[in-house]
Amino acid sequence: MNPDGLRRKAPFILLLTLTVVAVGFSARLLAHVSLGGTPPGLSEEYFTGGRMGTVFDTTSRCLELPSPAVAANPKLNQQFNDGELLFLADFVTDPKVPYGGLGPVYITNSCMNCHPNYGRGRRVDKFSTQFGNGYTVFVHTPDGKLVDGYMFMLQTKAVPPYKPPARDVKITWRNFVDQYGNRYPDGTRYNSGKPTEGTLIYPTAELVDPLLPLPAGYKVSLESTIGFYGSGLLDAIPDEDIIAESKRQQAMPGSVKGRPGAWIVEPHDGKKHLGKFTYHNTRATLQNGPGLNGMWNVFNLTRTDRPRLFASSQWIAKQRELGLDTAPLVGSQPHELAQKDVDDLMVWSRGLAVPAARNLHKPEVQRGRELFQMMGCVQCHKPSWVTGDYPYIPAYGKQKIWPYTDMLTHDLGTMNHGVSRFFRTPPLWARGLSRNAADHTDLFHDRRARDFEEAILWHFGEANFAREMFRHLSADKRKDVIRFLESI
Ligand code: HEC
Ligand code: HEC
Repeated sequence: MNPDGLRRKAPFILLLTLTVVAVGFSARLLAHVSLGGTPPGLSEEYFTGGRMGTVFDTTSRCLELPSPAVAANPKLNQQFNDGELLFLADFVTDPKVPYGGLGPVYITNSCMNCHPNYGRGRRVDKFSTQFGNGYTVFVHTPDGKLVDGYMFMLQTKAVPPYKPPARDVKITWRNFVDQYGNRYPDGTRYNSGKPTEGTLIYPTAELVDPLLPLPAGYKVSLESTIGFYGSGLLDAIPDEDIIAESKRQQAMPGSVKGRPGAWIVEPHDGKKHLGKFTYHNTRATLQNGPGLNGMWNVFNLTRTDRPRLFASSQWIAKQRELGLDTAPLVGSQPHELAQKDVDDLMVWSRGLAVPAARNLHKPEVQRGRELFQMMGCVQCHKPSWVTGDYPYIPAYGKQKIWPYTDMLTHDLGTMNHGVSRFFRTPPLWARGLSRNAADHTDLFHDRRARDFEEAILWHFGEANFAREMFRHLSADKRKDVIRFLESI
């Protein structure tokens, strides 16, 4: 590691030590201290990521720490640190220098741009905003079929002389007024007392200078980052338990009918695994997940198992038409990313800890917790799971974790339809720390919700009943629900 890296790491190592001590200390504290009227078993809810996946930290660095399982294992810890450098790097075009190989057509040059400070992307007005814009862009027909040539993630950058499939994306934020005129039954306006009072907004998007043909009525949809702390723990949830949860929901009366992802044959072991990553459960394990694929499909770094460029044949044909040399674009390429880097990156993305819950013992948070159950939020935001065996980080096995997701997809109504009608229930753990880590409170796949209140108000379709329950609460109780969301 270079001296700069060490300087970066010194406070981090101290913090890490403190965290490990704090975890041990808090475990004992929680085991012995009465939490004043706390229902039995609540103390384990503080350990959102289980004993081996939780850190006690609320600083701006709370989403970037290795879990106790990784910190306690010198080999994993080293790989975690090496993998992290790839996440932090700004990639450059020249394949011969470190972090080289970007392009010839690509999305952006750093993971960090879309996952700012290890957190989630924010709502942006200008797509070309580099840091903090976590949007991936899908160009599709109204019924969700991807338009040929634009790949499944739109690339807006190319190394000259090549031209990208589109030069930019124009985002327009539009007002939405619901059937109640954006008011609660008690007459108060949504977002009462905030600068956003009485308003809800959502984005639409268009391509700027599209290079390839587009069908009539094509749509452009935005999806921002989910947040990857705790991904290794979600990876460790057994497939059959998710299937059982879906069956349970299908058998229940009511609107909640969570659908599992498809069974996907993954390249690393040739076996079928259940889809559970991305907003649509289109990736099964992290070993074939967005992080590992990002090195290839975001930056276009080739490697031994992905030797061809991430570029469409239509795009290559268009470059030829423009008189450019397409010989370097076709066929297998020399690898630009080493296998060691791939392995390290995976330890890092699996090993990021989840910050512990906060304030759960406070009466107002307790009230919010009860309302969260009573309103049926728990039907989709399933509070806890027990992980199965996890050979990649063995200490992650048999942990009780609290992600508040059922890992299934739901239809939240036509206003929420994008490239698909169905979105996976996102984990809610540590969403309340987004302000501390990434300096914003934006939520939902396209970040239309500017805070927790708006997020709940965007629940239509399968979740409309829960939205109505929330609307009918008193102002004080609505606050308690939000306090609970801030605490987990
Ligand atoms: C252009 C923006 C963008 C860039 C750059 C990007 N990501 Fe992502 N990432 C996303 C989005 C959007 C998601 C949400 C999942 C999805 O729909 O694919 C995601 C999801 C993930 C996830 C899985 C989280 C989950 O719960 O499903 C991991 C891990 C991840 N990214 C790691 C990385 C790494 C490592 C890099 C750098 C190679 C990277 N990302 C670069 C946009 C980006
Ligand atoms: C029918 C299933 C369902 C029910 C019931 C439900 N949710 Fe959700 N929730 C979802 C889905 C799916 C999303 C993701 C929507 C998107 O991003 O497009 C979501 C998103 C959220 C988000 C934003 C999370 C993020 O990371 O962007 C919050 C906060 C939230 N729900 C809280 C609640 C609360 C509080 C309730 C009860 C009042 C509730 N939900 C009821 C399925 C549900």
